[in-house]
Amino acid sequence: MTASTTKATNIVWHEASVDRSARADKRGHRSAILWFTGLSGSGKSTLANAVNAALFERGLATYVLDGDNVRHGLCKDLGFSDADREENIRRIGEVAKLFLDAGVIVLTAFVSPFRADRDKARALVEDGDFIEIHCAADLAVCESRDPKGLYAKARSGAIKEFTGISSPYEAPETPELKIDTGAQDLNESVEIVIKALQGRGVIPTA
Ligand code: ADX
Repeated sequence: MTASTTKATNIVWHEASVDRSARADKRGHRSAILWFTGLSGSGKSTLANAVNAALFERGLATYVLDGDNVRHGLCKDLGFSDADREENIRRIGEVAKLFLDAGVIVLTAFVSPFRADRDKARALVEDGDFIEIHCAADLAVCESRDPKGLYAKARSGAIKEFTGISSPYEAPETPELKIDTGAQDLNESVEIVIKALQGRGVIPTA
């Protein structure tokens, strides 16, 4: 199947009869996008999954979108050129927005190295709906962990355009949260995120 290059016309937005605020009232919590960004090996997926488990345990509606997983399906046609990463993040921003409308707290774990692409994802939603969480482990820490052996391959030249080695990572300037996932204990990091969600009125305090 080849993608059509013709844009659809004659499309009219259909208002849903169950809207986001109705879902929030029924479920007892708001939805939000928790956008985890950081180098490969910085602990984005680990932290996102641990926060997800803690929220799920409280009976809240949550879902994790993870870079390595999404690249097996929705984004399997994309590589790691700057343009492909931009398209990857554009799609994830749109999918996250759908989850937001569905009343779900969606946790995205993508390197998302480019500030402009993250800012575009942020701009798709209202102020307060996008919570950027910088998993700020140093490159040296990520490289020493090298859980998938990718840094070694990048250093040897076997992987091109590897973030932090041969492709840039633009750290957020004013993220809602910055967590040193190189030093901070996982449970403490989860608590920091949960407290932030409570402080912002996304989830109840109890
Ligand atoms: S992003 O840059 O487009 O946001 P994404 O988070 O989807 O990246 O995928 C990153 C994951 O793909 C990394 O965790 C790593 O396991 C793997 N990967 C494979 N090649 C690369 C590369 N060249 N740069 C970064 N990550 C890569």
